Amino acid sequence: MSTSNVRVAMIGAGTVGQPLARLLLDSNRVDMLVDAAAARIELVAICVRDGAKSRPGVPAQLIVTDSMATATRDDIDVLIEVAGGVEGTRELIEAALSRGTTVVTANKALMAAAGSELIALAHQHGADLYYEGAVAGGIPILRALRTSLAGERINRVMGIVNGTTNFILSKMSAEASDYGAVLAEAQALGYAESDPTADVEGFDAAAKVTILSSLAFGTALCGEVIHREGISRISAGDVAYAHRHSLVIKLLGIAERIGEHGISRRVHPVMLPMDHPLASVHGAFNAVFVEGASSGPLMWLGQGAGGEPTAAAVLGDVVAAARNRVTRRCDAPLSIDPSLQIFPLGELQSVFYLTVDVLDRPGVLATVAGVFGEHSVSIKSMEQSGFGDEARLTFLTHMVFESDISATLEDLAQLDVVDSVGSCIRVLEDDPS
Ligand code: NDP
Ligand code: HSE
Repeated sequence: MSTSNVRVAMIGAGTVGQPLARLLLDSNRVDMLVDAAAARIELVAICVRDGAKSRPGVPAQLIVTDSMATATRDDIDVLIEVAGGVEGTRELIEAALSRGTTVVTANKALMAAAGSELIALAHQHGADLYYEGAVAGGIPILRALRTSLAGERINRVMGIVNGTTNFILSKMSAEASDYGAVLAEAQALGYAESDPTADVEGFDAAAKVTILSSLAFGTALCGEVIHREGISRISAGDVAYAHRHSLVIKLLGIAERIGEHGISRRVHPVMLPMDHPLASVHGAFNAVFVEGASSGPLMWLGQGAGGEPTAAAVLGDVVAAARNRVTRRCDAPLSIDPSLQIFPLGELQSVFYLTVDVLDRPGVLATVAGVFGEHSVSIKSMEQSGFGDEARLTFLTHMVFESDISATLEDLAQLDVVDSVGSCIRVLEDDPS
């Protein structure tokens, strides 16, 4: 039987696109993929912004610069989008899908914002839309949720899904360094971008949690804003407290069922017990921890960012896309569970670590503790450090409602004896199994 060719064009040849192009141009690799793809994958064009830039390993004759012309070529089966961006890129993907061209993308921002509509458009035109590279780089978590765990009732997906922030928190913990100094180092090493906002303020992780939730629970990909707190306010003092109490601070993305129909999705730092599986994930590594009703806890670990790991995930999608093109089928669209309702953040419960900078005078502790009491926040332990105008009170609460902690923080900030309310970090106390 003769082997079909599946023709592929790419938009983007940067951090992800360049190693991907090299994989697609490696004839040994393409030969090896013929069985899995049921076709020979042929890269026919690579679209970039700057056609004059040197790109080692990428033949100049494949380079083009008209992205819409590339997306709407009649002679391609699959468009790979590794350019990034939301609105302009959405138009390119819509144009390709509307012509029945399958799209493979690593664009988490676009998928979180408009994935449901794009998946529906793909289905309407007999095409696929794959996006494994969009979450946790080289970790094949989306396909695992979609296929291997299709029969499982998933209760919680919790992950370290941003490499930059995990690198920063790991360094702060290992070297007792301040956030600012470690961020500067992360930027110098190329982990953090010159504008690190998307990573350090949790926007990148929030997009990934939105995507994980859609596969685990059937929530829509339509740009919903989820609760998000980043790591930029975490101090060396917070890290030291965690260390003294056998805890470690991680930025977690969490999507979980609450009761039968409740769903909570959020990104925030958490103090984890050192024996929690996610506590030992260091550096730029990512890990996704899934709790299934029958499977129990499961965890995936790997390189969540970087060109080569992400390129490998994108290539896996291209293979699946090619096979579907050859066999003239396409995947069913994701199902959405209309019964799910957003569980109010204020009704979630957690243990909290809080710091409050106060004047060190008689009666101040009683005044501060009184505010906790007014909002039914029970204190488990308290430490004081410093003295005079510099005193810091560090509290660990019992399990309390988020709404009560928010009200406590608001009222504490109004007290004359309080200079500032510092950190407020959730502490995970439950057993992962
Ligand atoms: P880069 O900025 O390194 O590369 C972007 C590439 O796209 C460049 O080659 C650029 O061209 C090209 N490009 C951008 N806009 C256009 C356009 N309008 N027309 C044609 N070409 C265009 O990005 P990354 O490779 O880091 O990221 C790509 C995507 O992959 C993003 O969606 C990102 O979120 C995602 N991703 C990235 C990961 C990573 O570790 N970097 C990990 C997981 C996902 P030129 O070279 O000429 O400037
Ligand atoms: N900036 C992301 C991270 C990589 O640091 O994990 C792209 O998903």
